[in-house]
Amino acid sequence: MKYGYFDDENREYVITNPKTPWPWINYLGNKDFFSLISNTAGGYSFYKDAKFRRLTRYRYNGVPMDAGGRYFYIKDGDTVWNPGWKPTKTPLDRYECRHGMNYTRIIGEKDGVEANLLFFVPLDTHAEVTRLTLTNKSDKPKHLKLFSFIEWCLWNAATDMENFQRNFSTGEVEIEGSAIYHKTEYKERRNHYAFFNVNVPVQGFDTDRETFMGLYNGFDEPDAVMEGKPRNSVAHGWSPIASHYIEVDLQPGESKDFIFTLGYVENPDNKKWESKGVINKQPAREIMERFDTPEKVDKAFADLRKYWDDLLAKYTVKSGDDKLDRMVNIWNQYQCMITFCFSRSASFFESGIGRGMGFRDSNQDLVGFVHQIPERARERIIDIASTQFPDGGCYHQYQPLTKRGNNDIGGGFNDDPMWLIFGTAAYIKETGDFSILDEMVPFDNQPGSEVPLMEHLKVSVDHVINNLGPHGLPLIGRADWNDCLNLNCFSHDPNESFQTTENKSEGSKAESLMIAGQFVATGRDYVDLCRTLGKNEEADRVQKYIDEMTEAVKKYGWDGDWYLRAYDYYGRKVGSNDNKEGKIFIESQGWCTMAGIGLEDGLVEKSLDSVKKYLDCEHGLVLNNPAFTEYIPDYGEISTYPAGYKENAGIFSHNNPWVIIGETVLGRGERAWEYYQKICPAYVEEKSDLHKVEPYVYCQMTAGKDAARPGEAKNSWLTGTAAWNWYAITQFILGIRPAYNGLEIDPCIPKDWDGYHVSRKFRGATYDISVRNPHHVSKGVKSIILNGNPIEGNVLPIMPEGSINKVEVTL
Ligand code: BGC
Repeated sequence: MKYGYFDDENREYVITNPKTPWPWINYLGNKDFFSLISNTAGGYSFYKDAKFRRLTRYRYNGVPMDAGGRYFYIKDGDTVWNPGWKPTKTPLDRYECRHGMNYTRIIGEKDGVEANLLFFVPLDTHAEVTRLTLTNKSDKPKHLKLFSFIEWCLWNAATDMENFQRNFSTGEVEIEGSAIYHKTEYKERRNHYAFFNVNVPVQGFDTDRETFMGLYNGFDEPDAVMEGKPRNSVAHGWSPIASHYIEVDLQPGESKDFIFTLGYVENPDNKKWESKGVINKQPAREIMERFDTPEKVDKAFADLRKYWDDLLAKYTVKSGDDKLDRMVNIWNQYQCMITFCFSRSASFFESGIGRGMGFRDSNQDLVGFVHQIPERARERIIDIASTQFPDGGCYHQYQPLTKRGNNDIGGGFNDDPMWLIFGTAAYIKETGDFSILDEMVPFDNQPGSEVPLMEHLKVSVDHVINNLGPHGLPLIGRADWNDCLNLNCFSHDPNESFQTTENKSEGSKAESLMIAGQFVATGRDYVDLCRTLGKNEEADRVQKYIDEMTEAVKKYGWDGDWYLRAYDYYGRKVGSNDNKEGKIFIESQGWCTMAGIGLEDGLVEKSLDSVKKYLDCEHGLVLNNPAFTEYIPDYGEISTYPAGYKENAGIFSHNNPWVIIGETVLGRGERAWEYYQKICPAYVEEKSDLHKVEPYVYCQMTAGKDAARPGEAKNSWLTGTAAWNWYAITQFILGIRPAYNGLEIDPCIPKDWDGYHVSRKFRGATYDISVRNPHHVSKGVKSIILNGNPIEGNVLPIMPEGSINKVEVTL
C-alpha cells in the first residue's frame, strides 16, 4: 500500500494520507540553521548543533507519536483544525504534504477554507520561514481565528529534558509588536537568542505554556485555542512558548498571506543590549524585514529552487527506468547532502543529543556529497583530520559546534583511520585539488601540532601497520565498522556501554578481516596517490604491507567458502563454518571482494556465491547468518539484538553496496542490479505499510529473514547507505568514476539493458555520455569516442573548463 506518490518534475514526494505508518520527515536548511519537519508539521529547529543550540522543543518516543512542532490552529466557528491534521486530528476535506528539496508544503482544507503552508530555510539565513496562505473557497464570508504555536527549548537539548529543578525557573521572553523573543540565559553566558515573528499586527499572544494550554491538556486542545481567546501571557520560568493570535476575515474567493519567521541571532558581547535588560533586537529585525512580504518570500524560495537545480545538474541519468532515474537524479543525492550535514545526529531515530559527527561516518558521507559542493567537503576533511591523534588513531565522534573530539566515546575503533584516506582520496579524485594535502592540520586540535594533511594520511596507514595481530591481520580495537562486534568488551554489567568499554584488551588477539579488506582496498588509493605525487618510496613501502596483508587474508582469513569475519580475543575464529551461529558475515565478504583478494584463485566468486546462498532474502542481504540467539559476552552488543534486527542479521543496508561493488568486480551485472533494487526506496514504495519508513530515502536497517516482521524498516535518513549506494550505482553499475587523472568509464549492468545516458560535470567540464550495449554484455568497454575521436583505454581526459563533451561508449 502507498501513502502518496513521486512528483519527479517538481522533485517532490507527495503524501496524500496523513496517517503514514511512521512520521515521514524532511529537512529544512543545509548550512548552520536546520529544521526537521514531519508530514504533520512536527519536528524541531536548531542552530548548527542539535544538542547545544536547540531552538524548539520536541518529545521523543512520545505518546501520541510525533508530538510538538510548529502548529497552526484555525478556529472556524466551533471547529478547530490544523492544516497538517495533527495535533487536533480534525478530519480534513483535503490533505497534501509535499516534501521537496529542503522545503515542505502542507495543504489542508476544511469547510471551504484552504490553508497552504510553505516551510523553508532561505539560503544563508539563520531562520525558518513559513508562508501561510489562507483562502476562502466557500461562497460565504469567513471570520477565522488563527493561532500559531511553537515551544522553546532551553538551548541544551539534553539538560532541557532533565534539569527541571533549574529549568523551571530560568525561562525568559520579551515581546515587541508581533515578535516574541526567547532569551533564557542571555543575561549571563549566552550571547544568542531566538525569535518567532509574524509580518502582520496581532490581536493577542501567549508565551507561557501552562496559561495557553491548560496544565492537563494536550497539544490537541489548548484552552486559549478552544475558547478562541489568547491570554497575553508573559512567561517567567516554567515552559516558555510563542503563540500569535490573529483574526482573519476572508470574503468568498479571497486569500491572505501571513509570513512567520523563526530565527536565531548571536550578538557580539559589546552589542548585547539595547538598554538594561532589553536585548539588542536589531539583527532580528533585519531578518524579519528580509521576509516581510510574499514577494520577498517568493524570491527567496526561487533562489532555493535554483540552488538545487544547479546542484542536481551535476549528475543526471536517463535510463528509461523512472525509479532508477528519480533515485539517482533526485533523492539519493538529496539524502547524501542531508547525511553530510547531520552525520548521525538528528533524525526521528537519532535524538540529536546522543551522537555528534562520526569520524568514519562523515568520511563515508563525503563520497556521496563531494561532487555537489567540494569546498564544503574540503572543510569537512580538515575538521575531521583535526580530531586525529598523532599515532593515527582518532576520536570516534566530534561535536559540530566545537569541532572537538568527543571524550565520552573516545577512540579505539581501528577502522577509523583508513576512512580518512577514503574520504580524502574521493575529494581529490573529484576535484584534482592536490593542494589539500599541504594544508597544515593539527592533531587533537592542539595548537602547535600541525602537520600537512598528507602526514595524517600516512599515520592512518601506519596505525593499521603498527597494530597487527598474531596472524598479521589488523587488531580490531573496540570495534571496526560494525560498532556492535565488541571483541574486547566482555560485558556483564547492564550499566556499561558496549562501545566504550574494554574490560580486557591487553594481550588481545582480536583481529578484523573487515579492516584487512579495507586496508588492501583503501591502501591502494593511498599508494596510487603517492605515485601520482612522485612519492615512489612511500608507495613501495606501503605496497609491501598491502601485499603482506593480501597474503595474510588468503592464508588465515579464508574459511573454505567465504572470508572469516575476525579472530576473537583468544584467537578463535569468528564467522566460520565451525561456529554454531554467525557462521558468515557480510562485512568481510564485502571488503575483501571489493579489494579483489584472491580473485585469481576464485575466492571472490566463492565468497559472493556464499553471500547469495546464506545472506540474501526478499528484502536485501542480512548482516550475518545464522542469527545469534544467545548473548555471547565474547562478541558483545551484536548478540544482544533479537535475531533479524540491527547488527544481528538485520539487513543493514549500509553494507549491501559493498557486495554490489564486489559483484561488479566479478562483472556480474544482473546480481549487482538485483541487490541494488532490493533495498532502493523507490522500488519498495508499493509495500510502504510493511516497510513503514519514507519511500524516498534509504534507511539504515530493515528487519531480516530471521526477524519477527521481515521487511519492516527503521532508522531512515541518516545512514552511510546513502553515500555507499550513490557510490555503487554511479561509479560501479553506471560505471562513471572519478580518478586522479580523469573520468574512468567502467559500467557493469544487466545484459538486457540497451544502454543509458549520463550527463556528468567533472572538474568544470560537462561530459554527455551515451553508453550503448549492442552486444548485450554486462561489462567491458569496447570503444570510446570523445567528441568524434576514438580514445585509447577507458579514462576520459580532463577537458577544458566550461567545455561540453560528447562521449559515446560501446560495451
Ligand atoms: C554507525 C556506523 C556503524 C554502523 C554499524 C551505525 O549506526 O553510525 O558508524 O558503522 O552503525 O555498526
